[in-house]
Amino acid sequence: MKSFTPSLGLLAAFATSAQAGLRFPCSSLTTQRLDPAAQPGALPSAHLHMIVGGNAFNATMEGDVASRATCTTCQMSEDFSNYWVAHMYFKDPKNGTYHRVMPKPVQPLLGGSQGASGGLTIYYTQFDLSKDNLKQQTIKAFPPGFRMTVGSPTTTGKQHAGLSYQCITGGNRGTLLSTFPTGKCNGGIFTTHHFAPCWDGKSLDSPDHQSHMYNTVRSEGFDNAPACPSSHPVRVPQVTFEIEWDTPKFADLWTPGKDANPFQWSFEGTAAGTHADYMFGWKGDALQRAMDKPECFYDGCGSIKKQAMSEANKCTVKDFVRENIEGWSKFLPGQGDSMAGMTGMKA
Ligand SMILES: *[C@@H]1O[C@H](CO)[C@@H](O)[C@H](O)[C@H]1NC(C)=O
Ligand SMILES: *[C@@H]1O[C@H](CO)[C@@H](O)[C@H](O)[C@H]1NC(C)=O
Repeated sequence: MKSFTPSLGLLAAFATSAQAGLRFPCSSLTTQRLDPAAQPGALPSAHLHMIVGGNAFNATMEGDVASRATCTTCQMSEDFSNYWVAHMYFKDPKNGTYHRVMPKPVQPLLGGSQGASGGLTIYYTQFDLSKDNLKQQTIKAFPPGFRMTVGSPTTTGKQHAGLSYQCITGGNRGTLLSTFPTGKCNGGIFTTHHFAPCWDGKSLDSPDHQSHMYNTVRSEGFDNAPACPSSHPVRVPQVTFEIEWDTPKFADLWTPGKDANPFQWSFEGTAAGTHADYMFGWKGDALQRAMDKPECFYDGCGSIKKQAMSEANKCTVKDFVRENIEGWSKFLPGQGDSMAGMTGMKA
């Protein structure tokens, strides 16, 4: 499947076959310059992130995250993992100042955003979205302390398959692109990040936060992937983030064709630098139970606890970095004198 837009009939067929996969919303938890996976201990980290998930989020995170968290912005209430991405920015082509582009809840076919606030949609899939993988390959949930990243802010050439952009127009997500859409997208810019699904079975992390994993993802979308190699023999759930960035708010401030693409990442990065970070934090064996049950598909199942998004939205963490990121600024957070650059004006 290139872009996942199944009919309701197809979804009904999924629900009755033996397979497991979760899809659920997580509201924004915090927006700060922190990165416990790629820059542990750095306070602040190099660039701004939009973070969702449990309230054990901190500059350094080791061990069993779920044992320290007391709430989560995710709908699955036993999921205290943290998920984060670079923040999208608009750079005004007339005066060169920056403004954050806000995330808005993804609207999946089933159930809408269910009251999520900002944030992203998370998937844990086994294989693709239509095959019974339980019979073919066992899925092992991640151990406490596990973390990984996909993509890199320093990539300037071709990014890995599974990282994509789409221009949402009139409710349609449109073609999968490897770079920012060139025109205005009246529904916003949709980004997807598929993480590697094969693990070496031992390492909670690796120096580049990726080589303990092997990426069998060869194309965009929720496609079937080849078997894991002997170097990384353990099939883990395939984690995917989807985000909708609210770019239409800036539609009056630029002219496609005349102005250069005004959207970029919080590290002054190009489209190729899109990346995402994952810190595992499910409580006990909750994720393993979900992956082992054929009836656990899409929005959960009996044994996996869910909470109302109105409850999830109350979960917060403290502002560790204490940096003003509101309004227009001459500098991106962490670049130049971002505090002196504040104008205090809002879009
Ligand atoms: C964050 O981590 C620091 C250093 O490990 C610790 O002292 C602090 O209590 C943590 N804060 C929260 C809110 O978890
Ligand atoms: C730059 O342009 C934006 C959009 O028109 C405006 O809101 C902002 O105040 C401007 N910034 C400066 C420093 O002029």
